[in-house]
Amino acid sequence: MSFFKKQSSVGKDGLSVETMTKGARLITAAEPKNPVSEQFRTLRTNIEFAAVSRGEIKTLLISSALPSEGKSTVTSNLAIVYAQQGKKVLLVDADLRRPTVAVTFGLNRNSAGLTNYLGDNHKEISDVVHRTAMDNLDVVTSGPIPPNPAELLGSGRMTELVTQLKSQYDLIIFDVPPFLMVTDAQVLMSKVDGVAIVVNGGKTNKGALQRTNEILKIAEAPVLGFIYNDQSRRKKGSSGYGYGYGYGYGYGDTKSK
Ligand SMILES: Nc1ncnc2c1ncn2[C@@H]1O[C@H](COP(=O)(O)OP(=O)(O)OP(=O)(O)O)[C@@H](O)[C@H]1O
Ligand SMILES: [Mg+2]
Repeated sequence: MSFFKKQSSVGKDGLSVETMTKGARLITAAEPKNPVSEQFRTLRTNIEFAAVSRGEIKTLLISSALPSEGKSTVTSNLAIVYAQQGKKVLLVDADLRRPTVAVTFGLNRNSAGLTNYLGDNHKEISDVVHRTAMDNLDVVTSGPIPPNPAELLGSGRMTELVTQLKSQYDLIIFDVPPFLMVTDAQVLMSKVDGVAIVVNGGKTNKGALQRTNEILKIAEAPVLGFIYNDQSRRKKGSSGYGYGYGYGYGYGDTKSK
């Protein structure tokens, strides 16, 4: 796990590589009493409310329109607050392009993960599910980055995996790539009970939001709501969490936001 590490390093493509190289900041584990951790618990409650009208949510996919909007930070902290509530939770790193889960939870990056399972019919689920230091929280890391992520995620073996894992966990949360960039998230949206979209107030422009609506409709995604991740409140040069995180949860059409 990585706490209180220095802020964003940026890769050649201009995207933040902080969570890939140092792990997502697990404020909910490090500082459960911090107001930000409280915001994550509120997010959990709001997702539970959304589930009332839809039936039980056992599989939850978190995506965003564009890169670096906070998906990995949200998924890992959300997984923790569900586990802290006593639910048996599995976090699956289905971002096979910019994976973070292994490093976030201090696991060996080379440990067998999702791509090993999907690419090898002899692999057992138990070979790729890893315990974390946290009670009630297991993870499936991404495994080696494959040439064909969307194909692997859309495979029948992936569908079978999800079905089997559902019988072993109360909740499975998927971290996936941004859906305006590649099709990986869209491919998985049809396999889950609920989809929540992270929206970064400062970054996600109107055009991206309109395209978001179109894609969610085409994918027939079971959208529960939008998670507003306010990175603008982050203090420049700050090395800790501070109060720079802001999370909110909303429903419905992004056009009205
Ligand atoms: N609310 C926030 N306040 C401050 N910093 C944040 C917040 N949310 C995310 N960050 C930072 O923004 C960067 C990107 O976050 P993260 O890696 O979680 O996004 P992502 O959507 O998973 O990115 P990718 O598209 O690469 O998968 C990281 O450096 C993270 O620490
Ligand atoms: Mg990510």
